[in-house]
Amino acid sequence: MRNQWYVAAYGREIGRELFARTILGESLVFYRTTSGRVVALADRCVHRRYPLSESRLEGDTIVCGYHGFTYDQGGTCVFVPGQARIPRTARVASYPVVEQDSFVWVWIGDHDRADPSSIPRAPWLDDPAYTSVSGMEPLAARYQLLVDNLMDLSHETYLHGGYIGTPEVANTPITTEVDEDRGIVYVSRHMADAECPLFYAKSTGIEGRITRWQDIEYHPPCLYLLHSRIAPVGVLPNADGSDPGGFHVEVVYAITPETENSTHDFWAVARDFALGDHEVSDFLAENNRTVVMQDVVALNLLEKVIATEPEGYQELSINIDTGGLAARRILKRMAEAGAAPARPSEAVPS
Ligand code: FES
Ligand SMILES: [Fe+2]
Repeated sequence: MRNQWYVAAYGREIGRELFARTILGESLVFYRTTSGRVVALADRCVHRRYPLSESRLEGDTIVCGYHGFTYDQGGTCVFVPGQARIPRTARVASYPVVEQDSFVWVWIGDHDRADPSSIPRAPWLDDPAYTSVSGMEPLAARYQLLVDNLMDLSHETYLHGGYIGTPEVANTPITTEVDEDRGIVYVSRHMADAECPLFYAKSTGIEGRITRWQDIEYHPPCLYLLHSRIAPVGVLPNADGSDPGGFHVEVVYAITPETENSTHDFWAVARDFALGDHEVSDFLAENNRTVVMQDVVALNLLEKVIATEPEGYQELSINIDTGGLAARRILKRMAEAGAAPARPSEAVPS
């Protein structure tokens, strides 16, 4: 799906050094101009294919490290060595970029369809009312496996036992809703009385059992939000929606295909408590990275299994898979519609 916004990087990753990252099979080079704007260009010199990311920045231009072809921020060649005339076709592709919510979003498809207002939001990540930790792990598996994984959190009980998983996660049924018009999948699991996993016990300081809510909101293809609410057992939000007794964690994943069989797994954890507390931040970063790596190891295995399985293998799905199946259906619909943002007129009945 090329006509979509994808997270290419965290803003902090892009500076005055040339930065290479492959998105949807396309090698891109990123940098920040002297005025602070992020630029994305194809990472291949038009002359003899030398990677521009292995070249150097001169002001706001890239000077190719092989023979010196020089490109401006729009990818137009402004200098070639040994002659005054610059060939008309001397340009590399440039890509629309938007920096928002600490992410650098890039649009790989047709430029005239790149509408920044269609980028889904994760405002907690640069909101001073929250403290965030984040990272990115390379995944040697197709992005669809990560979508499946995140849409069904019952795996927390088994794959992440002792970290974020407790028996109640797998034992509590989910509710799934799909906003067909906006193409968003919601999956909720509300546990009234659950064991408190280490992840939350240590970060919130709650001792004893908890009320634990998991409300997933998936904006296909790239952005996944898990609104997590934890409180001492029985403590609920007030009727007016205020929730002084609750601890809120916004878990954000950006799921960006690198190639057909590999994925950039961006993860972030934003909290509205223990603000600025470095000990809590270090614990959550370390613990969440461990959890992410447990998924990475499992999904890398699945990718290998898929590569060797015979044609026509049939999976078996059960109730816990409802959210994942809804996500697959929307992704398929988007791919068939040429990846235009979902509109009711394009809805394909399931
Ligand atoms: S390959 Fe870039 S200038 Fe020759
Ligand atoms: Fe997981």
